[in-house]
Amino acid sequence: MEILITGATGRLGRVLTPELVRAGHGVRAASRSTGPGGKPGPEDPAGLRRVRLDLVSGDGLVAALDGVDTVVHLASAPNQGRYTRQVEVTGTRRLVEAAGQAGVRHLVYLSIVGTDRVSWPYFRFKVEAETEVAAGPVPWTVLRVTHFHEFLAEALSRLARLPVLPLDPGIMTQPVDVADVAAHLRWRVTAPPGGTTEEFGGPVALDAGTLARDWLAARGVRRRLLRLPLPGRLGRAFRAGAFVPAAGARGQITWREYLAGTAGQAGWPGRSDDSTS
Ligand SMILES: NC(=O)c1ccc[n+]([C@@H]2O[C@H](COP(=O)([O-])OP(=O)(O)OC[C@H]3O[C@@H](n4cnc5c(N)ncnc54)[C@H](OP(=O)(O)O)[C@@H]3O)[C@@H](O)[C@H]2O)c1
Repeated sequence: MEILITGATGRLGRVLTPELVRAGHGVRAASRSTGPGGKPGPEDPAGLRRVRLDLVSGDGLVAALDGVDTVVHLASAPNQGRYTRQVEVTGTRRLVEAAGQAGVRHLVYLSIVGTDRVSWPYFRFKVEAETEVAAGPVPWTVLRVTHFHEFLAEALSRLARLPVLPLDPGIMTQPVDVADVAAHLRWRVTAPPGGTTEEFGGPVALDAGTLARDWLAARGVRRRLLRLPLPGRLGRAFRAGAFVPAAGARGQITWREYLAGTAGQAGWPGRSDDSTS
């Protein structure tokens, strides 16, 4: 099977790309910054082609889709104002139309568990993009996934730059490892298009207090948690499990296992930052 991955350089794309190559597929790994020739790099295995694709300008789209059976659409640009909408909504519409013209047989769009329950701009754009996918000419699957371990670790790492770590400890999430998402997608691309929205999450739901304490312990960082309950309807929805999947398959790697595997990596504040408590 010939598979185009948009957003192949992102957190998930970096893991999914080799996973699909190992499964024997022809994989086109798309990025805005790959050279126009799509030549393999010196380390690239057979079966992998790097292609240049910009969903906002449309550059590279037709060539990237030529001869493709399945598209796994991961490209996204959160928290970048108007550009976020251009990538997520306009870019997805453009991708869906071009994929229809190229005869693509299955388009899998990655969304987030809770997009339908949380009224954040980014989540609203994702719902709009889901609608574009469902209304388009290509048989489709929308896969809503919970927060990636890596994403939450990055967020905690940023918060831990403060002298105390402020968070609402009651917010519930069910984080998942990108390796588990990639393994699920390896299966999902070979199964028939669902024509429906599916969910995928980590093995267990956790509250934000536990997440933060586990992260602090694994990284050897000492910070006092500053309890800051989110007010209003949004706070109640987060604590009631807006980010927790109702159904669907589950990954196996736990938050603690993820932390044990990556403790000591660059990008987290070590003991030298430890100024309080
Ligand atoms: N992070 C999470 O916790 C999480 C949880 C559930 C679902 N998801 C969803 O899963 C998907 C992948 O997330 P991620 O965290 O792996 O993404 P990410 O690390 O933020 O990477 C985003 C990717 O989008 C590409 N991109 C940005 N603008 C583009 C444009 N104009 N044209 C083409 N490509 C563009 C970037 O590639 P270049 O910069 O190389 O062009 C990059 O590879 C997203 O749809 C996200 O909403 C994420």
